[in-house]
Amino acid sequence: MISPPRIGVIGSGYVGTVVAACFAALNHDVVGIESDRAKLKLLRDGHLPFHETGLAELLAAQVAEERLTFTDDIGAATDSCDVMFVCVGTPAGPDGHPDLTALESVARAIGASLTAPMVVVTKSTVPIGTNLWLRSVIEDGIANRRIEGVDVSIVSCPEFLRVGTAVDDFLYPDRVVIGSDRQDAIDLVADLYRPILEQEVPAGLGSGPKTTAPHLVTSSLGTAELIKYASNSFLAMKISFINELAQICDRVGADVTQVAHAMGMDHRISPLYLNAGLGWGGSCFGKDLTALATTAREHGFEPTLLQAIGTVNDYQRLEVVRKLQTHLGALRGKRIALLGLAFKPGTDDTRDSPAVGIARKLQQLGAVVTAHDPVVVDLPGVGGVRITADPLLAADRADAVVLVTEWPEYRTMDYAKLAEAMNGPLVIDGRNALDRDAVTAAGLEYEGIGRKG
Ligand code: UGA
Repeated sequence: MISPPRIGVIGSGYVGTVVAACFAALNHDVVGIESDRAKLKLLRDGHLPFHETGLAELLAAQVAEERLTFTDDIGAATDSCDVMFVCVGTPAGPDGHPDLTALESVARAIGASLTAPMVVVTKSTVPIGTNLWLRSVIEDGIANRRIEGVDVSIVSCPEFLRVGTAVDDFLYPDRVVIGSDRQDAIDLVADLYRPILEQEVPAGLGSGPKTTAPHLVTSSLGTAELIKYASNSFLAMKISFINELAQICDRVGADVTQVAHAMGMDHRISPLYLNAGLGWGGSCFGKDLTALATTAREHGFEPTLLQAIGTVNDYQRLEVVRKLQTHLGALRGKRIALLGLAFKPGTDDTRDSPAVGIARKLQQLGAVVTAHDPVVVDLPGVGGVRITADPLLAADRADAVVLVTEWPEYRTMDYAKLAEAMNGPLVIDGRNALDRDAVTAAGLEYEGIGRKG
């Protein structure tokens, strides 16, 4: 194998583009493989096809320096690379299983073109056992061509990056998980991560290292696959836990923000992912919880807790609708303004955003729904929501305003102007993110989530 290895990255979504641009920035020769022609053209010109903090600049620089190139020819890329990162999407399928169609066609393409030894590294989130299956598909492809001496090793290296902080999460992670039954493959991938593990990322990339160096965890393939599902499920569980507590706080007259703050002081608990609100969304938590629960059931075990995490979240998302009904009575004909549509601040991603379910439910109940979001311009799957360019326009003649996504600009809004624009005084803070005193000082009525204390 030549040294240093040439890296291929299949799939140019959030994960693939970050992996490709960051390894290029660590001075590797990287080729990104993308089948979507329109995306490919943008990437080749150094343009990012979606919004992600810091990534556009990083990508443009790596393309300009020619450390990162893009192609749609997976066969040629397979031939020229020593390590192939697989970062294709594994969206939820109808039966609870992730849809592995894209992964399978990648494995077939690699198996059909590989002529030299390769380490295939799966970054896509995949059910337990998938990497073994992936290897068999690739090996079948090689065997069909009756060539010998082509050694494929498979590594599971799950990614823990968050939308909005993806570059930082990749370069400055808490841990790097590398799973394989081949020590030489683990060593090779660990070597690629060496600057990250040893906090030797060149200055100027992202926001800089954390106080402690990342941990390296090596494991079997199946354990690495499970670590990813366990991590996302646990984070979703923390949020559902504090949301259930918020429900109790509202009933007994306590303040969930203080409860969470004091709980988080215990280092065994930690303050992170304890913000009560309208529940978690995005493309990962729901999909991964369902996939893990499906795996458990397939192995004859009913995952009671995993099941409850999603049930609590489903209930929590409509909490603002119940609060609106309590304050306003029947919602038919009422004007409700939603502030924020993205599943969290810092992104234009509305996949599985609580805003979708809330807008739909309000419309079903006959309310007129308007909305504002600093970056989202339409809400896929929901018609009839007027999205305005200014939050005050969305609030015009509104009977109530609901904060759905805690974008920072909503915290510093002119609440006096908001009160002037509205028809009624009700502001529901679905993320417990607004300054309650500032809101009430403007003559508005404030209601948070679990903040009756
Ligand atoms: C999540 C994980 O955090 C990443 O580690 C993982 O790599 C990624 O999924 C993935 O599997 O690809 P992400 O979906 O970008 O990342 O979103 P998070 O920042 O974790 O937030 C998820 C949801 O939880 C958001 O809707 C957010 O508003 C909500 N949330 C978060 C709360 O309601 N309360 C909190 O305290 C924290």
